[in-house]
Order: sequence, then structure tokens, then C-alpha cells
Amino acid sequence: MGSTARKVSLTGIKPTGEPHLGNYIGAILPALELADSYDSVYFIADHHALTTIRDRDLLRHYTRSVAATWLAAGLDPDRTTFYRQSDIPETFELAWVVSCVTGKGLMNRAHAYKAVRDRNREAGKDDLDAGVNMGLFNYPVLMAVDILLMDADVVPVGRDQLQHVEYAADIAGAFNAVYGEQFAFKIPTPIVPAEGTAHTMPGTDGRKMSKSYGNTIPLFAPEATLRKTIRRIPTDSVPVEAPKDPDSSSVFTLLEHFGTADVVADTRAALLAGGMGWGEVKARLTNALNHQFAPMREKYEALMAPGSELDDLLAHGAEKARKQSQPLLERVREAIGIR
Ligand code: ADP
Ligand code: TRP
Repeated sequence: MGSTARKVSLTGIKPTGEPHLGNYIGAILPALELADSYDSVYFIADHHALTTIRDRDLLRHYTRSVAATWLAAGLDPDRTTFYRQSDIPETFELAWVVSCVTGKGLMNRAHAYKAVRDRNREAGKDDLDAGVNMGLFNYPVLMAVDILLMDADVVPVGRDQLQHVEYAADIAGAFNAVYGEQFAFKIPTPIVPAEGTAHTMPGTDGRKMSKSYGNTIPLFAPEATLRKTIRRIPTDSVPVEAPKDPDSSSVFTLLEHFGTADVVADTRAALLAGGMGWGEVKARLTNALNHQFAPMREKYEALMAPGSELDDLLAHGAEKARKQSQPLLERVREAIGIR
């Protein structure tokens, strides 16, 4: 008998900014680890980015940059199916089909949409839908399709995306209730980091590192930029000789993640005893990041260069993905009576 099929783990990455240290620790590393135990399917959700990014060059740049980041970080394209959402045309046909079995009320309750309405209400606007485009409203439908089309068993996401994966399960259920005799989607299960155990990287201002706060340390910034970004992290003005609380600044928290155990222990002891200034801790952090990321940065830059193998790798990934999406869509068409 053939070997039992492994389960499929799928996730999408929205190309809306330069990948940062938080994305690396919170999303990239855990997803690469899952690729050991699942059939992994990872893609760049460029159509999802369209709800916010309207600059064509920027969208193209982020799409390539995010793809290059994952490859540089160790994604193996022979093992993981890795592609751009926009290269899978079945996505957009299936989006219409499933939207015809999806309740509008479900979409009305989606967090992202409700958040905009709340903001409009607080701002005293008459039209609570002001600034809402249909892309934002339909966002969960498109995401459900990404998941269902690839027959995913599990979907690793950050907590903010949990509702969307639950919606994908609801939408699959709605389709199955109507057409299940002919064709039934697999019901996906979300995987989210357990509360409190997820490593949340602080940004340069001490809040969660996030592009929306403009406090990120980009993964592959050139060394000079990295040095400057870290030098600018605010610290207290306790004199060098005085004892300091290691946990009072992002600098030490970041060093704890990226420095060697020896350096971290030595730095903690020196800060507590007094005699070490924040400037030195920043230098240690810069060195630690450089040490860890310089080899990846080289790969990243090679992939970002014009004419690199990046576009071919993505095209090849799309070909693999369509071996799954094309027959699935055929079965859906058959089930619903189109063709
Ligand atoms: P951002 O907050 O910069 O917009 P996203 O919301 O696009 O980042 O997050 C993409 C992925 O990276 C998610 O899985 C999220 O959980 C993870 N992530 C983002 N910021 C951090 C952080 N500061 N620490 C840990 N994980 C993070
Ligand atoms: N919406 C996700 C985000 O903002 C990205 C995404 C798109 C996704 N399609 C997906 C994630 C399918 C998991 C599965 O981060």
C-alpha cells in the first residue's frame, strides 16, 4: 500500500511591507518548522494587499521582497509549494462561487470591517461604511478560497487572523450543506500561537514591533541602516556606572532573542551590577543581528537582483499549486452545474 498522505499546512503572507524581526520570529520560523511535519503550501497573498496598496511599483517590490525573504530564511521550494496568489486564476472563480453561499451577515461581523465602522462611529460620521471598499468587505471570502482551494488541513496564523480561518470553515460548511452530495470541501483548522507563549518582539519604541507603528527593525536592512536604527532606540539616561534594569528597554529584550547565551548572561549581569552603558548593549545587539542575518542577507540580495531565479521559482511553485487547484475547481463546477 502507498504511504498515508501527510496533512497539508497552508498559510498566506500579505506583501504590505518589508519583513521585520517580529515577522521572522512570529511567523517565518514557526512556518518553516511546520514544513517538517506537514505538506506545506505557502503563498504571497498579493491580491489581499490590494485592499491597501495602490502603488504598482511598491506592490511589486513587496511581493518580491517577501518571497525573497522566505527563501533566504530557509524555505525549500522543492519541499514547500511556494507561489503568488495572483498566479492561481482558479482562486477568483471560486471566490464568486463561494460568495453565493456566504451570508452577508457573516461578513458584517468580521473584525476588520467592524473596526472601520467603529472608527467611523467614533468620528461622528453619518456613513459608517465610509472608506470601506468591497475588497475589505470580501477579504474573508478570498482568504477562505485560498485555504479551501488547496485542500488545507491546518492553517497557521497570528491571533489577528483566527476569525478569518474560522470563517473559512463556516464557508466550507455552507457550501457542503448545499452541494455536499456532489462535492465537499475539507474543513480547515486554525493553528494559532498559545496565548502568552508566542514570542512577541518589541519594536524600537517598546510597543509590539509592527509596520503599522513604524517601529520595525527590517530583517535585511544594510548594516549601516541597522546600526543607525538600533542606535536610535530610546533608553533611560542612567549613567554608565549605575546599575540598570535590563528589562527596561527593547534593546536587551531583542538581545535575549538574538545574542548567544554567553553574551546575554554577561550583559544582564553587567547591567545589573553597573558599569555597562546602553551604547555597549546596542553594539552587542547590532553584532548579534549582523552575525545571524548577514548570510541570509546575501541570499536575499541575490534573489532580489534583476534576472535572479526568484521569478522562475515562483512560476514553478504556481505550476505545482495549479495541479491541485485546477482539478478541484473542475469538481466544483461539476457539483454546481456550471459546464
Ligand atoms: P505587522 O504587525 O508588521 O503588520 P503582520 O500583521 O503582517 O505584521 O504580521 C505577519 C505575521 O508576523 C503574523 O503571523 C504575526 O503574528 C507575526 N508578527 C508580526 N509582528 C510580530 C511581533 N512583533 N512579534 C512576533 N510576531 C509578529
Ligand atoms: N489575511 C492574511 C494576513 O493578513 C494573509 C492571508 C491571505 C492568509 N490568505 C490566507 C493567511 C490564507 C492564511 C491562509 O496576514
